[in-house]
Amino acid sequence: MADRRQTIAPSPVNVGDYERLAARCLDEGLLGYYAGGAGDERTLRDNVAAFARRRLRPRVLVDVSAVSAATTVLGTDVSMPLLVAPTALQRMAHPDGEPGMARAAAAAGTIFCLSTLATSRPSEVAEQAPAAPRWFQLYAFRDRGVTRALCDEALEHGFGAIVLTVDAPRAGRRERDLRTGFVVPAGVDMPAVSAATGAPACPTPAEFFSLLDTTLTWSAVEHLVANLPVPLILKGIQTAEDARLACEHGAAAVIVSNHGGRQLDGVAASLDMLPEVVDAVGGRLEVLVDGGVRRGTDVLVALALGARAVLAGRPLLWGLAVDGEVGAGAVLQGLQEEIELGMTLLGTPTPADITRAHIAP
Ligand code: FNR
Ligand code: LAC
Repeated sequence: MADRRQTIAPSPVNVGDYERLAARCLDEGLLGYYAGGAGDERTLRDNVAAFARRRLRPRVLVDVSAVSAATTVLGTDVSMPLLVAPTALQRMAHPDGEPGMARAAAAAGTIFCLSTLATSRPSEVAEQAPAAPRWFQLYAFRDRGVTRALCDEALEHGFGAIVLTVDAPRAGRRERDLRTGFVVPAGVDMPAVSAATGAPACPTPAEFFSLLDTTLTWSAVEHLVANLPVPLILKGIQTAEDARLACEHGAAAVIVSNHGGRQLDGVAASLDMLPEVVDAVGGRLEVLVDGGVRRGTDVLVALALGARAVLAGRPLLWGLAVDGEVGAGAVLQGLQEEIELGMTLLGTPTPADITRAHIAP
């Protein structure tokens, strides 16, 4: 594959540049699927706007000769408090697909989360990117045998946590997909979905959600926790009430998330829900957040409000679309540089130094 980045435009320097380049690499249907949100896309826009509303409070005359963004998430060492969010169907963006994304994450020293709706099996990612610290994002299928088989494959292949997505019993109303008539292109395999349907054909995103178990409740969480040898993380928690239930039912972490504005339009930006979740949890489990992170300084804002780390979805898809593994790696490297520069100027040499005092109330 030619270096698409060089043939389109030289030297993207931030996530916004990658986004603009990706928009030129991807056809309309695919771009709409990746970029779009639900309904009027109010939440999609607000996720980004919420970071822009916040103001940092830097301290000066702090020794910043040795700044490092390195931290741990659920005991795993990471080079920075930014992880790769699970996003579906990565081989549609670039033939490097999920293995390329996982290698980029490994090279950057951070965690890669594989989607259930991936175009590679967990075993393939493990073989092709053995160094990647990895989590597996689980959708619970109505056919419990499929869910169990998927989980077992991930566990057998070194996935260190299961991330159960709880905000998507059905697909949100994604009107860009309705307008373009988006369907997954022929030849793009979704092994988990094929296992669930017993058919090789790829349905539309809305159709694959129809395979999911809409009866899932907190008792399923408890059952999973009791039967998993690895931590269970709940993705899609948005309220103090559910955060407390997550603690009571044995989750190891929660991800404050509205699925990148793709599910219930009209909910608050995930950053705006973060403080109430952090307060409700009171240190009983780790709180992560995703949605709208586009800058290293956004990561500092999330940490100041109590997040252990953030996840980024679309920024990595833009990098992958533009230049495969190399592009995803460049996005991660750029974000890490921005995080460490921001920490230097904020007067916080380590992530643990960042507190609520570093953000305006
Ligand atoms: C997602 N997201 C997602 N989440 C999940 O649990 N399983 C999945 O398969 C997917 N697939 C997916 C596809 C695409 C194209 C997008 C944009 C998002 C949601 C994702 O994990 C994350 O919550 C958001 O992407 C975070 O918002 P940003 O970083 O994209 O603004
Ligand atoms: C999405 C999925 C698959 O948001 O989670 O499209």
